[in-house]
Amino acid sequence: MQYKTEQGAQSEKAALDIRGLSLDYVMPDQNIHAVVDLNLVAKMGKITALVGESGSGKSTVALAVMGIQDKNAIISSGEIYLAGMDVLSIPKKDMRSYISNHAGIIFQDPIDSLNPLLTIGEQLMETILIHEKITKKQARAIALNQLLAVSLPQPEELMKKYPFMLSGGMCQRVMIAIASVFHPPLLIADEPTTALDVTVQAQILYQLDSMRKRDGTAILLITHDLGVVAEIADEVCIMKDGQIVERGTVDDIFYNPQNMYTRKLLAAAL
Ligand SMILES: Nc1ncnc2c1ncn2[C@@H]1O[C@H](COP(=O)(O)OP(=O)(O)OP(=O)(O)O)[C@@H](O)[C@H]1O
Ligand SMILES: [Mg+2]
Repeated sequence: MQYKTEQGAQSEKAALDIRGLSLDYVMPDQNIHAVVDLNLVAKMGKITALVGESGSGKSTVALAVMGIQDKNAIISSGEIYLAGMDVLSIPKKDMRSYISNHAGIIFQDPIDSLNPLLTIGEQLMETILIHEKITKKQARAIALNQLLAVSLPQPEELMKKYPFMLSGGMCQRVMIAIASVFHPPLLIADEPTTALDVTVQAQILYQLDSMRKRDGTAILLITHDLGVVAEIADEVCIMKDGQIVERGTVDDIFYNPQNMYTRKLLAAAL
């Protein structure tokens, strides 16, 4: 293989293995060190929570993994192994397709993430047809299945609707359906439930957990909500000022936090 593949046993089951990543935002008067020598692993079949205060760099990490960071972002060092391949070593022209075949992402505001001018069916079909050389009829069957898989009722009807006709929770499920249509090893969810009310939040988390169980997907869940973390996460990474200051299982982090900042974060959530 001509690109950089992973060495070392540690990440055999890691869908994502970020090593020593540093990323700066170049500004006219200064550079913002948004990510500093960051190491992070998301294992298959596990939910890894990335937690930290606003501005700590969580979304920056997510966007860098997806290769969609802002134009003024410069990655100065590090490797991002996605399904065993360092995406930063893949030439630009092949990088997008490699990433979209191995990772999906959903964002906080599902309605904004969907195209308002296309029906749900058109958007889902478009994603499927970009990935696979199949007929429209086959793509439609996959689309319908995928909507059922995220527990959306009456998928035939739903395919004809536009995003504004759906609730936020339904849009988020459509986003999960789109992001997971080819069962990528990694799904990143950046504050996926922040804009939704509590009962709908629970349904979305249930969908993510089902994906993890059903497909063995590694889920990187970015959230402020420590209640959600305690309930659903397997591993937790605490982020501060662009670095992971502590990592561990949910029990480690909640019952035996070592880092001062982790303790402060937990105390603030009580
Ligand atoms: N395009 C950009 N140009 C300059 N600075 C940026 C840019 N995008 C983000 N930043 C800065 O980088 C830092 C990390 O931002 P990021 O959005 O990754 O934080 P976050 O942890 O996701 O925060 P939140 O919890 O509010 O979503 C912040 O200081 C932010 O202001
Ligand atoms: Mg963010």
